Amino acid sequence: MLFDKLGREAHLWIVRPESITEGMTLAACMDTLSDQEQQRYRRFLFEKDRHRYLVSHALVRNVLSNYAEIAPAAWSFSESGHGRPEVANPGLSDIRFNLSHTSGLAACLVTYVRDCGVDVERVHTRYGAVGVAKRMFSSAEVEDVQRLEGRDQLNYFFTRWTLREAYTKALGTGITFPTHKLNFIIRSATDIDIEFQAEIEDNRKNWQFAIFSLGDEHIAAAAIKRPDQNDIKIVIHNMNEDLTSYSTQT
Ligand SMILES: CC(C)(COP(=O)(O)OP(=O)(O)OC[C@H]1O[C@@H](n2cnc3c(N)ncnc32)[C@H](O)[C@@H]1OP(=O)(O)O)[C@@H](O)C(=O)NCCC(=O)NCCS
Repeated sequence: MLFDKLGREAHLWIVRPESITEGMTLAACMDTLSDQEQQRYRRFLFEKDRHRYLVSHALVRNVLSNYAEIAPAAWSFSESGHGRPEVANPGLSDIRFNLSHTSGLAACLVTYVRDCGVDVERVHTRYGAVGVAKRMFSSAEVEDVQRLEGRDQLNYFFTRWTLREAYTKALGTGITFPTHKLNFIIRSATDIDIEFQAEIEDNRKNWQFAIFSLGDEHIAAAAIKRPDQNDIKIVIHNMNEDLTSYSTQT
């Protein structure tokens, strides 16, 4: 059971939804979803969105079954005030998780007790990086975005975007948070500080951040609340195409 490792590790589970094509696997995924999830699945207009939803939610359920003797279909969830899904099975609410999915990738972060958030994005040029940064980033970060060009600008933009999303998802507040009042200092992929404008009641020492390059196209960020100011190791598990076995990235 991976549960024993969660005291000193967080686990980032990755799957590429497009790689899950086998009919039996997809039928098994569907069997794990609750009635409510199946209803949401049916409401998507486009097949690619339906597929991503199915695989992402089956991912969460299969992932969680690595931490307790609970079958994937038997996990139940409640929602925090702003809609963040949390484990609702009796006695297991200290297992925390967060899901993110985007075109080509789904990721699920799991921790024990520590609030966590994950965001994954495909790096692409569709965004007007400067315009979005002016609304969402600190003034120092906006200056950096304006100074950079091409791929450097995109990488900078998506790194700070995913960090903001991961932080607000760990808080559970979602879109309501004034993200321009945050500033990130990135020294390396695992040495990242957050700065808050005075009116934000939080302390940078409460947070561990990490960023990950996942292939050529995707960037992910993790935010983990640390009760004791100590970082934990974040281990990446790549889920195999059967969605039940995995390989651990070393
Ligand atoms: C839901 C939200 C929290 C994340 O949405 P997103 O980035 O579009 O989507 P992701 O794929 O990363 O995450 C979606 C998953 O997060 C989870 N989620 C939903 N509400 C959540 C919340 N309030 N907090 C944390 N996680 C939440 C769900 O598992 C959801 O999966 P589902 O939609 O398949 O059920 C989004 O609505 C939001 O409010 N984001 C923050 C917006 C923001 O301020 N961005 C600034 C960036 S610069």
